[in-house]
Amino acid sequence: MPTVKLRQASEKDLKGIMTVENDCFGSERYDSRTVRAFLRRRDSFVIVAIEGGQVLGAAMCLFSSGLGEGRIASIAVLRNHRRQGIGSRLLDECEHVLGALSLQRYVLEVDTRNRSAVRLYRDRGYVTTGRIDDFYSRGRHAFVMEKTVVSPPRRVRLRPS
Ligand SMILES: CC(C)(COP(=O)(O)OP(=O)(O)OC[C@H]1O[C@@H](n2cnc3c(N)ncnc32)[C@H](O)[C@@H]1OP(=O)(O)O)[C@@H](O)C(=O)NCCC(=O)NCCS
Repeated sequence: MPTVKLRQASEKDLKGIMTVENDCFGSERYDSRTVRAFLRRRDSFVIVAIEGGQVLGAAMCLFSSGLGEGRIASIAVLRNHRRQGIGSRLLDECEHVLGALSLQRYVLEVDTRNRSAVRLYRDRGYVTTGRIDDFYSRGRHAFVMEKTVVSPPRRVRLRPS
Protein backbone atom coordinates (compact mmCIF):
# COMPACT_ATOMS: atom_id res chain seq x y z
CA MET A 1 0.00 0.00 0.00
CA PRO A 2 1.53 3.38 -0.98
CA THR A 3 2.31 5.74 1.86
CA VAL A 4 2.54 9.51 1.84
CA LYS A 5 6.14 10.72 1.80
CA LEU A 6 7.43 14.24 2.21
CA ARG A 7 10.45 15.67 0.45
CA GLN A 8 11.87 18.88 -0.90
CA ALA A 9 10.42 19.66 -4.33
CA SER A 10 12.26 20.25 -7.58
CA GLU A 11 11.10 21.71 -10.87
CA LYS A 12 10.02 18.21 -11.92
CA ASP A 13 7.19 18.60 -9.38
CA LEU A 14 5.91 21.87 -10.89
CA LYS A 15 2.97 20.26 -12.71
CA GLY A 16 1.82 18.37 -9.62
CA ILE A 17 2.17 21.46 -7.44
CA MET A 18 0.08 23.47 -9.91
CA THR A 19 -2.63 20.79 -9.74
CA VAL A 20 -2.71 21.29 -5.96
CA GLU A 21 -2.73 25.09 -6.38
CA ASN A 22 -5.67 24.89 -8.80
CA ASP A 23 -7.62 22.51 -6.60
CA CYS A 24 -7.11 24.57 -3.45
CA PHE A 25 -7.03 28.19 -4.57
CA GLY A 26 -8.69 28.34 -8.02
CA SER A 27 -8.28 31.79 -9.52
CA GLU A 28 -6.32 32.91 -6.45
CA ARG A 29 -3.58 30.34 -6.99
CA TYR A 30 0.04 31.26 -7.45
CA ASP A 31 0.87 31.19 -11.15
CA SER A 32 3.51 28.78 -12.40
CA ARG A 33 6.12 31.55 -12.66
CA THR A 34 5.74 32.30 -8.98
CA VAL A 35 5.90 28.63 -8.01
CA ARG A 36 8.98 28.16 -10.20
CA ALA A 37 10.59 31.08 -8.37
CA PHE A 38 9.88 29.37 -5.03
CA LEU A 39 11.58 26.26 -6.40
CA ARG A 40 14.63 28.10 -7.76
CA ARG A 41 15.46 30.86 -5.33
CA ARG A 42 18.04 30.39 -2.63
CA ASP A 43 15.86 32.05 -0.01
CA SER A 44 12.88 29.78 -0.52
CA PHE A 45 11.93 26.12 -0.70
CA VAL A 46 8.93 23.93 -1.40
CA ILE A 47 8.00 20.71 0.39
CA VAL A 48 5.72 18.23 -1.36
CA ALA A 49 3.69 15.33 0.01
CA ILE A 50 3.79 12.50 -2.52
CA GLU A 51 1.92 9.23 -2.78
CA GLY A 52 2.40 6.85 -5.66
CA GLY A 53 4.03 9.60 -7.74
CA GLN A 54 1.15 12.04 -7.21
CA VAL A 55 1.62 15.37 -5.43
CA LEU A 56 -1.09 15.45 -2.75
CA GLY A 57 0.02 18.61 -1.03
CA ALA A 58 2.63 21.35 -1.06
CA ALA A 59 4.04 23.96 1.28
CA MET A 60 6.06 26.99 0.17
CA CYS A 61 8.39 28.90 2.42
CA LEU A 62 10.61 31.96 2.26
CA PHE A 63 13.30 32.81 4.75
CA SER A 64 15.62 35.60 5.75
CA SER A 65 18.70 34.75 7.76
CA GLY A 66 19.18 38.48 8.39
CA LEU A 67 15.79 38.73 10.05
CA GLY A 68 16.13 35.27 11.60
CA GLU A 69 12.70 34.57 10.20
CA GLY A 70 10.93 31.98 8.08
CA ARG A 71 7.65 32.69 6.33
CA ILE A 72 5.11 30.00 5.56
CA ALA A 73 3.75 31.41 2.32
CA SER A 74 1.32 28.60 1.52
CA ILE A 75 0.20 25.15 2.62
CA ALA A 76 -2.32 23.27 0.52
CA VAL A 77 -3.63 19.72 0.31
CA LEU A 78 -5.84 18.26 -2.43
CA ARG A 79 -9.47 18.37 -1.31
CA ASN A 80 -9.99 14.63 -1.32
CA HIS A 81 -6.87 14.01 0.77
CA ARG A 82 -7.58 16.41 3.62
CA ARG A 83 -8.03 15.53 7.31
CA GLN A 84 -5.44 12.79 7.07
CA GLY A 85 -2.63 14.72 8.72
CA ILE A 86 -0.87 15.81 5.52
CA GLY A 87 -1.20 19.55 6.22
CA SER A 88 0.27 19.05 9.70
CA ARG A 89 3.14 17.01 8.34
CA LEU A 90 3.89 19.66 5.71
CA LEU A 91 3.95 22.35 8.40
CA ASP A 92 6.19 20.22 10.63
CA GLU A 93 8.59 19.67 7.75
CA CYS A 94 8.71 23.40 6.91
CA GLU A 95 9.57 24.12 10.53
CA HIS A 96 12.16 21.34 10.53
CA VAL A 97 13.95 22.81 7.50
CA LEU A 98 13.72 26.37 8.86
CA GLY A 99 14.98 25.19 12.25
CA ALA A 100 17.91 23.46 10.58
CA LEU A 101 18.72 26.81 8.98
CA SER A 102 18.90 28.23 12.52
CA LEU A 103 15.71 30.21 12.05
CA GLN A 104 13.55 30.30 15.13
CA ARG A 105 10.71 32.67 14.28
CA TYR A 106 8.05 31.52 11.84
CA VAL A 107 5.42 33.91 10.49
CA LEU A 108 2.44 33.66 8.20
CA GLU A 109 -0.73 35.40 7.14
CA VAL A 110 -4.02 33.53 6.99
CA ASP A 111 -7.52 34.58 5.95
CA THR A 112 -9.49 35.34 9.12
CA ARG A 113 -12.35 33.21 7.70
CA ASN A 114 -10.19 30.18 6.92
CA ARG A 115 -11.16 28.18 10.00
CA SER A 116 -9.36 24.97 9.10
CA ALA A 117 -6.07 26.72 8.44
CA VAL A 118 -6.33 28.97 11.52
CA ARG A 119 -7.00 25.89 13.64
CA LEU A 120 -4.14 23.99 12.06
CA TYR A 121 -1.73 26.80 12.93
CA ARG A 122 -3.16 27.42 16.43
CA ASP A 123 -2.98 23.73 17.28
CA ARG A 124 0.70 23.80 16.39
CA GLY A 125 1.59 26.72 18.58
CA TYR A 126 1.10 29.74 16.34
CA VAL A 127 -0.35 32.79 18.03
CA THR A 128 -2.15 35.69 16.43
CA THR A 129 -0.01 38.81 16.66
CA GLY A 130 -1.93 41.11 14.37
CA ARG A 131 -4.57 41.58 11.74
CA ILE A 132 -4.23 43.22 8.35
CA ASP A 133 -7.49 44.56 6.98
CA ASP A 134 -8.23 44.06 3.28
CA PHE A 135 -5.08 41.94 2.93
CA TYR A 136 -6.50 39.59 0.28
CA SER A 137 -9.09 41.94 -1.21
CA ARG A 138 -11.61 44.48 0.01
CA GLY A 139 -13.32 42.98 3.07
CA ARG A 140 -11.04 39.94 3.27
CA HIS A 141 -8.72 40.31 6.20
CA ALA A 142 -5.68 38.37 7.38
CA PHE A 143 -4.47 37.30 10.79
CA VAL A 144 -0.74 37.56 11.23
CA MET A 145 0.36 34.46 13.14
CA GLU A 146 3.75 33.64 14.59
CA LYS A 147 5.62 30.93 16.40
CA THR A 148 8.99 31.14 18.06
CA VAL A 149 10.95 28.01 18.85
CA VAL A 150 14.11 27.35 20.77
CA SER A 151 16.45 25.09 18.87
CA PRO A 152 20.15 24.48 18.82
CA PRO A 153 21.98 26.34 16.04
CA ARG A 154 22.67 23.97 13.18
CA ARG A 155 23.34 24.88 9.59
CA VAL A 156 22.23 22.97 6.53
CA ARG A 157 22.65 23.58 2.85
CA LEU A 158 19.33 23.44 1.07
CA ARG A 159 20.58 22.38 -2.30
CA PRO A 160 23.80 21.02 -3.59
CA SER A 161 25.68 23.82 -5.39
C1 LIG B 1 -5.55 23.99 5.74
C2 LIG B 1 -5.18 22.65 5.07
C3 LIG B 1 -3.79 22.78 4.45
C4 LIG B 1 -5.17 21.55 6.15
O1 LIG B 1 -4.70 20.36 5.54
P1 LIG B 1 -5.10 18.91 6.12
O2 LIG B 1 -4.24 17.92 5.47
O3 LIG B 1 -6.56 18.71 6.00
O4 LIG B 1 -4.71 19.11 7.64
P2 LIG B 1 -4.59 17.98 8.76
O5 LIG B 1 -5.33 16.74 8.37
O6 LIG B 1 -3.15 17.83 9.10
O7 LIG B 1 -5.36 18.65 9.95
C5 LIG B 1 -4.65 19.37 10.90
C6 LIG B 1 -5.56 20.20 11.75
O8 LIG B 1 -6.09 21.30 11.00
C7 LIG B 1 -7.41 21.59 11.48
N1 LIG B 1 -8.35 21.36 10.40
C8 LIG B 1 -8.08 20.85 9.18
N2 LIG B 1 -9.21 20.82 8.44
C9 LIG B 1 -10.20 21.30 9.22
C10 LIG B 1 -11.60 21.54 9.02
N3 LIG B 1 -12.19 21.26 7.86
N4 LIG B 1 -12.29 22.10 10.04
C11 LIG B 1 -11.69 22.40 11.20
N5 LIG B 1 -10.37 22.19 11.46
C12 LIG B 1 -9.65 21.66 10.47
C13 LIG B 1 -7.65 20.65 12.64
O9 LIG B 1 -7.14 21.28 13.80
C14 LIG B 1 -6.78 19.47 12.27
O10 LIG B 1 -6.42 18.68 13.35
P3 LIG B 1 -7.35 17.41 13.73
O11 LIG B 1 -7.55 16.62 12.47
O12 LIG B 1 -6.54 16.70 14.77
O13 LIG B 1 -8.62 18.00 14.25
C15 LIG B 1 -6.23 22.26 3.99
O14 LIG B 1 -7.52 22.39 4.56
C16 LIG B 1 -6.16 23.06 2.72
O15 LIG B 1 -5.41 22.73 1.80
N6 LIG B 1 -6.95 24.15 2.62
C17 LIG B 1 -6.99 24.96 1.39
C18 LIG B 1 -5.74 25.76 1.23
C19 LIG B 1 -5.57 26.73 2.38
O16 LIG B 1 -6.51 27.43 2.74
N7 LIG B 1 -4.34 26.78 2.94
C20 LIG B 1 -4.02 27.60 4.07
C21 LIG B 1 -3.72 28.98 3.74
S1 LIG B 1 -2.20 29.18 2.87
